[in-house]
Amino acid sequence: MTMSPPSAGSAVPSSESAVPSSGTAASSAGNATSSVGNAALSSGTPAPSSGTVAPSGRPDVVDLYLKHIGSGRAVMGRVMGGMAEVRSEGPWIHADDGRRFLDFGGYGVFIMGHRHPAVVEAVHRQIDTHPLASRVFLEPVAALAARALAAHTPPGLDYVHFVNSGAEASEAALKLARAHGLTSVITTRSGFHGKTLGALSVTANATYQTPFQPLLPDVTQVAYDDPADLEQALAARRDRACVIVEPVQGEGGVRIPRHGYLSQVRALCRAYGALMVVDEIQTGMGRLGTWWGVDAEGVRPDVLLAGKGLSGGVVPVAAMVATAEAYAPFSRDPYLHTSTFGASPIACAAALATVRAMEEEETVARAAALGLRLLTAVRAVCAPYEGGLVREVRGRGLLIGIEFAEEQAVGELLLELISRGVLVNHSLNSTRVLRLTPPAVVEDTALDLFLTTLGEALRSTADRMAG
Ligand SMILES: Cc1ncc(COP(=O)(O)O)c(C=O)c1O
Repeated sequence: MTMSPPSAGSAVPSSESAVPSSGTAASSAGNATSSVGNAALSSGTPAPSSGTVAPSGRPDVVDLYLKHIGSGRAVMGRVMGGMAEVRSEGPWIHADDGRRFLDFGGYGVFIMGHRHPAVVEAVHRQIDTHPLASRVFLEPVAALAARALAAHTPPGLDYVHFVNSGAEASEAALKLARAHGLTSVITTRSGFHGKTLGALSVTANATYQTPFQPLLPDVTQVAYDDPADLEQALAARRDRACVIVEPVQGEGGVRIPRHGYLSQVRALCRAYGALMVVDEIQTGMGRLGTWWGVDAEGVRPDVLLAGKGLSGGVVPVAAMVATAEAYAPFSRDPYLHTSTFGASPIACAAALATVRAMEEEETVARAAALGLRLLTAVRAVCAPYEGGLVREVRGRGLLIGIEFAEEQAVGELLLELISRGVLVNHSLNSTRVLRLTPPAVVEDTALDLFLTTLGEALRSTADRMAG
């Protein structure tokens, strides 16, 4: 089996050393054992290049990564083509070699595309006035952003704690549960909630957990979409547990539970005195065609986590949103859980502008409509391969997964798409699933380009895997 390396290897000084031979690229992607990332690492250590400036005058980014960030990431960069991304707007990312890529990945961040103009403008204004706060006085933009976000969360979820990343939002929720004396945590198999130590404890993936054991004690994994399993775990932890769950498992491979599952989780948490934390970091902000995944069932959790799309594709920001009752310990003591940069004016300006832009542009409705179109079209493109290379295409809104019969296909297809100018993602907790998370606003020409490219890349992948 052979595969052509991505064609943009010219972005680095010597394409021979920067891009693995086609055989290496194919085997590194194709022999993926647990993820594309691990696959790339298995392709070996890159040969050091002569310097950190390429003959083109551009910095040799691969070499700098090799020397200062890590060989694993450097190798992955080479496998992906060796180019560096330097600019973006809307659904497009531009590389330092002049190529541009249609971004249907971005790990779910870019529901508003890259650098949404209204968010960029608000952030510029904030930088020019007051980007970071003293933390002595109150900050108006944090207050306004909290009100704007709470206006869209389920009724009663009024209190907002802004943080800098999704994992920090998970941490905040786990600590909030502890503050209520709830020391036992129930998570779902294949669930993903971040990689900081507490969040990792509830991210059900042994690959990431094992090197860091022991993690938080008293964490139990139950089957996703299985209320009976959850009830059994809760019954053994009455009035002691916090349940953390995603409305659709994103990194778990776009696993969509049966309608009614979240309502059942809600009822069980109530019955057994557990705090219900819904992790909407990937599914929220319109990604599923509703503001939040829980909206589809009208469920009100005690705590909701938001992130990714809240950034407007501009400034990292995430949030934990809670009911007054759940939030009470943090409300009473403002120093109980803090971070220097949390709720910074610059991040809150991005969050506020993002929510306003979503309202003005009806992003949620657009995501629902585009999601339906895209799912139908992707199913049609994949249809000739169903029962063979492709096992299933599933999705809700703009979170769409293509499950393959073999995990090797994910790496192969990912590289095929990159070589044709399209970016998508693998799934960290489900190695056979390729994930599409495009922006809500994609021109028809870009959509057509994506579908044509997907068809070509699938054909090529199928041919190679058959041969
Ligand atoms: C559902 C979910 N929770 C938490 C996280 C962690 O967010 P971050 O990577 O911003 O820490 C992610 C990231 O992919 C996620 O998908």
